[in-house]
Amino acid sequence: MPGYLSSEVDIEGRVRLVMESALTARDRVGVQDFVLLENYNSEAAFIENLRRRFRENLIYTYIGSVLVSVNPYKELEIYSKQQMERYRGVSFYEISPHIYALSDNTYRAMRTERKDQCILISGESGAGKTEASKKILLYYAVTCPTNDHMAILGDRLLQSNPVLEAFGNAKTLRNDNSSRFGKYMDVQFDFRGTPVGGHILNYLLEKSRVVHQNHGERNFHIFYQLLDGGDDDLLITLDLERNPQNYRYLVKGNCPRVSSISDKNNWKVVMKALPVIGFTEEEVQKLLNIIASVLHLGNTQFGEGEEGDTYITTETQTSNLAKLLGVDGSALREALTHKKLTAKGEEMISPLNYEQAVSARDALAKAVYGRTFTWLVEKINQSLALKEEIYHSSKDSSVIGLLDIYGFEVLQQNSFEQFCINYCNEKLQQLFIELTLRSEQEEYETEGIAWETVQYFDNKIICDLIEEKHKGIISILDEECLRPGETCDVSFLEKLEDTVGSHPHFITHKLANGKTRRVVSREEFRLLHYAGEVNYNVNGFLDKNNDLLNRNLKEVMCQSDNQILSHCFRREEVIDQKRPEMAATQFKNSLMKLMEILMSKEPSYVRCIKPNDAKQPGRFDEVLVRHQVKYLGLMENLRVRRAGFAYRRRFEAFLQRYKPLCPETWPNWHGRLVDGVSTLVNHLGYKAEEYKLGRSKIFIRFPKTLFTTEDALEAKKPEIALTLQTSWRGYRERAKYQRIRRAVIVIQSGWRGMKARRRAKRRRQAAELIRRFIKGFIYRHEEYCPENEYFLDHVRYSFLKNLRQNLPKSVLDKSWPTPPPSLVEASEHLRRLHMRNMVIKYCRRVQPEWKKQMMQKVVASEIFKDQKDSYPLSVGRLFLDSRLEREQINLKVIQTLGSDKVQYGVSVIKYDRRGFKPRPRQLLLTNTFAVLVDRTKIKQRIDYAALRGISVGSLSDGMFVLHMPTEDNKQKGDAVLHCSHVIEVVTKLAMMANKTSYVNINPGSIRFTVARGKEGIIDFIRGSELKVAKGKRGHLLVTAPRINAT
Ligand SMILES: Nc1ncnc2c1ncn2[C@@H]1O[C@H](COP(=O)(O)OP(=O)(O)O)[C@@H](O)[C@H]1O
Ligand SMILES: [Mg+2]
Repeated sequence: MPGYLSSEVDIEGRVRLVMESALTARDRVGVQDFVLLENYNSEAAFIENLRRRFRENLIYTYIGSVLVSVNPYKELEIYSKQQMERYRGVSFYEISPHIYALSDNTYRAMRTERKDQCILISGESGAGKTEASKKILLYYAVTCPTNDHMAILGDRLLQSNPVLEAFGNAKTLRNDNSSRFGKYMDVQFDFRGTPVGGHILNYLLEKSRVVHQNHGERNFHIFYQLLDGGDDDLLITLDLERNPQNYRYLVKGNCPRVSSISDKNNWKVVMKALPVIGFTEEEVQKLLNIIASVLHLGNTQFGEGEEGDTYITTETQTSNLAKLLGVDGSALREALTHKKLTAKGEEMISPLNYEQAVSARDALAKAVYGRTFTWLVEKINQSLALKEEIYHSSKDSSVIGLLDIYGFEVLQQNSFEQFCINYCNEKLQQLFIELTLRSEQEEYETEGIAWETVQYFDNKIICDLIEEKHKGIISILDEECLRPGETCDVSFLEKLEDTVGSHPHFITHKLANGKTRRVVSREEFRLLHYAGEVNYNVNGFLDKNNDLLNRNLKEVMCQSDNQILSHCFRREEVIDQKRPEMAATQFKNSLMKLMEILMSKEPSYVRCIKPNDAKQPGRFDEVLVRHQVKYLGLMENLRVRRAGFAYRRRFEAFLQRYKPLCPETWPNWHGRLVDGVSTLVNHLGYKAEEYKLGRSKIFIRFPKTLFTTEDALEAKKPEIALTLQTSWRGYRERAKYQRIRRAVIVIQSGWRGMKARRRAKRRRQAAELIRRFIKGFIYRHEEYCPENEYFLDHVRYSFLKNLRQNLPKSVLDKSWPTPPPSLVEASEHLRRLHMRNMVIKYCRRVQPEWKKQMMQKVVASEIFKDQKDSYPLSVGRLFLDSRLEREQINLKVIQTLGSDKVQYGVSVIKYDRRGFKPRPRQLLLTNTFAVLVDRTKIKQRIDYAALRGISVGSLSDGMFVLHMPTEDNKQKGDAVLHCSHVIEVVTKLAMMANKTSYVNINPGSIRFTVARGKEGIIDFIRGSELKVAKGKRGHLLVTAPRINAT
């Protein structure tokens, strides 16, 4: 927010701020500022607004810079330290009206403008004036900066209150703690805003209360406090009894005790406070002596002598009294019953009659109490005074004045006091008008706006009526008091009729017309105050104005050895023959001074209202409130405030708030401010009479104009919110997108960079590699050297890699990659290794049967390879364990063989050695011999050991001959056999007999032994098919088919 919000704290600023706070809170309860009431002339609307807010415990409402406060008669939770903090330093833009807001604003105005301020609090008795002033003081004590020294001052400021209240307040019908004097208090602040001093001015203490109280009321609190709270010793020294009923001055109202007041506690508070505000023990004692003496005076009784003289009937009482007053007893006694007259330069003493004596006594009591009260205030002032050394360091101090003074008073019977009080309020109203209009005018001037006459009632005419020299009511009263001869209150009234009878604001019974005459009695005069009419009864006016104390009583008092009294009753007063000023004139003069003081300051106002006479919370007595609204002049306040422009605001602030309402000014106006505002209000359709543009501010005449604008703004708000929302969202999303984009770019460029770097590196490496490769290639035939190492390594490596992938898968595969020259030797090693490895692996896989088979095949190969035509065909055919099933061999044969198990059996054809007759036989092999079996009969046994040889032809036939020894007769000769599995049979037989070397392969023919010395021949020829037959020359001719060698 721009700075103008906090700096603009002049009256207008405050008004503007409160109006705005009222604006924003318009929907809450009523209006927070009466200035915004549409019908500002309607008292009913005014009261209704007060009532509605009061019902919600909203006791504060503004009329511009005026704070209206309604006494809640209950503790509200709005005075805490937090609340103070809430209002502190905050322009009350948004915050509800509060006494703290006013206090804070005043304080800040003082600080920022270095101009003295004052807060004027007025209202009926019991309306909450004193409470308000206390709240303000407390606010300053808590929130203002302070130091140790100033803390003491703050303490004194706060502590002086209970003391002043004890002596100056009393229980009345309207208020249990009614201030019976007017009080103006200055609080001084140094340039840092620290409170540095204080000063109190008191006005018109209601002294008559000392001697008389109306029914239901009490004397000043201090008397009851002393009696209730003082300890026994103290009461004995003062010669007092505890029961207040024993004191005539305390029983007039017949109300010694009040439930809401704890005299005992308050006594303690006062006794604690006195030393704080600088009372010595002696002073306290003297003060209490005086208080006690007043009580004793009240009990002083007179008797009437026969010659109309008077004497004192309460002797002991009087001696005590003299003792307490510190005066001579007999002098006092005489002074109470006689008066001293000076006639023609001679002093004469004449006795007083009973009434005179009583009134002299009462006059003394009032004088003693009244002057002591004044002394008390002085004493407090001394303790609050700005100390010299501080004063010098804080020349630059400013002041906030607090005026807690009786408001307009209209009782059933109004007397001299009410006259003074109401006169005071006329003066304050005058001040209000002058200051408000003055500031208004100044503002118009600085803003360059033509001054317009403001319609309001100027009460100067009433002030003049009362105070004008020689012609005013006070002058007439004084004159009447001084006039020699028979004067009385009625003659005063007549004099008034003669002198001011024609004044439009003055009426008496005699002067009034019929209707008014009925409400003004013959002893009354009526004044038409700005706030309303008041009838004053003239009875007692003269006496009260005279305020006389017999001279001889004064003389006695002058001689008192009580320092307080000797200070109060000056000898000069007795010597000085000049009549002292009358009470009304004194009051008038003190008011003049007060006005001067206030005129030099910026005022703020607190107007207090009490909602009912019963001191009850929650009750709003409309009649009573209307009465106060009237007599506090609130409607008049409002009228003056509303006479000119209801609302004003600096251009920038106005534009800032309402710019959404006009397309040209939304979202920003770039030209001159005044043009912006002008464009805006034109767009809004303001009429010329509704507003004016000053140099820096816009002035709006009617709240209605503003409300319409405000309503338009309210209506526009969702739209603005939406726009703001969308643009905010857009902004947020855009920002998010930008963020992501930036991140992506960063990542991307990082990644790309890395990739590029990698690629470059790879390229570099590749180029290097290629270079080395080429170089290596060139040097490939050289010795291993740096130039070719890479190339050669690579060649080796690729050979080995290639080899690994192309190793022969079986022993039969003889392929092998061609090694580079440098690896020839290694390659050969590897090849062999690999072969061996494969062989080993192969062998490991071979089963025993297969091994047997292989061994047989190997043997067969050794015997037959390249020797016999049928061999290549036999290689692929497996050798069987046997060609005969077990059942094919006759059991008998098996039995005959006994333990020699048949290992192999096969069907063969046996050819007779002679004749070559073919006979089918079985050839059975055991481990040690072979047998030829003809069904059940073993025809021939051939022991392997005896076997001389085995002959086989080279063709594809199955003929084979087992050669037996010729010398052995047992043997029948060689066996000529034919078997289609000749290679298998021969191999097995040769292996079993362990006679592989005995096998002969004969091309052409085989010779065999028939019998001893006899030989047979088998001839082999190639033919188309296998044929075994007898040939020529007794040879066996075997024709074998040709087999295509594969
Ligand atoms: N703001 C307030 N909150 C609560 N009670 C209040 C307030 N103002 C006044 N009162 C009550 O009203 C009584 C009278 O107030 P006081 O200030 O003494 O009146 P005045 O000084 O106007 O005669 C107080 O004693 C108190 O009980
Ligand atoms: Mg008061």
